[in-house]
Amino acid sequence: MRITILTLFPEMFEGFTTNSIMKRALGKGVAEIKVVNIRDYTKDKYGRTDTPPVGGGAGLIEKCQPIVDAIRANSAPNTHKILMSPRGATYDEKLAKKYANLEELLIVCGHYEGIDERVNAYVDELVSIGDYVLTGGEIPAMAIADSVIRLLDGAITAESLQDESFNDNALEYPQYTEPYDFEGQTVPDILYSGNHEAIAKWRRKESLLLTKKYRPDLFEKLSLSKRDIKLLKEAESGETPNWEKEALEKGHKFIKK
Ligand code: ADE
Repeated sequence: MRITILTLFPEMFEGFTTNSIMKRALGKGVAEIKVVNIRDYTKDKYGRTDTPPVGGGAGLIEKCQPIVDAIRANSAPNTHKILMSPRGATYDEKLAKKYANLEELLIVCGHYEGIDERVNAYVDELVSIGDYVLTGGEIPAMAIADSVIRLLDGAITAESLQDESFNDNALEYPQYTEPYDFEGQTVPDILYSGNHEAIAKWRRKESLLLTKKYRPDLFEKLSLSKRDIKLLKEAESGETPNWEKEALEKGHKFIKK
């Protein structure tokens, strides 16, 4: 997949593409990120890309010509074109999955209240990353590129993708590392049991409980299996079910205190 980013600030993407998982994924050819400087397309003899708004008002507004020419020069008929804007539909994991199936995604980084309205007609959709206003579309573009690329084959392990938050609208279960006791907070004993089935059940239960507590809006949307309903009932009864008791006892023996 190729993600093309049109921006007036290409340097902002240097750190993003040269570190951590993005660096590895791009190095392995999982995806390609092409950062294009909109300024390279201006026909203004002074190299300007923005001018004062028609009708007066503060600040400078990005002109149509450089952006539209940059879009045209960097898109194919199958390119899905989006403009980052707080006015757009809110980006979520569902949209990330949709974009991860594309061959070509083009992201235009605009500046809020700073872009000629007519540019909208040259993209397929406006996308926002949340109800707050950033100074430009570069950080939203990175958020989108990151969340899409990590879904592609080879970016991260299939196992990490499977367990994570938002896969079925449930938040991810809590994770722990050694030592067992960190300033009085301990790792749940069941995680030492070696009983993979019990651990998986416990993690699912925690994931459901966390979602209910922190994101009731997501919890509402969950399609709970019979097993999920049973796990929740057990948790709400306040009594530890037998499968958990057994695993807890086993785990208890292996704890490295
Ligand atoms: N540009 C400025 N703020 C934005 C936001 N919240 N989402 C997308 N693009 C933006």
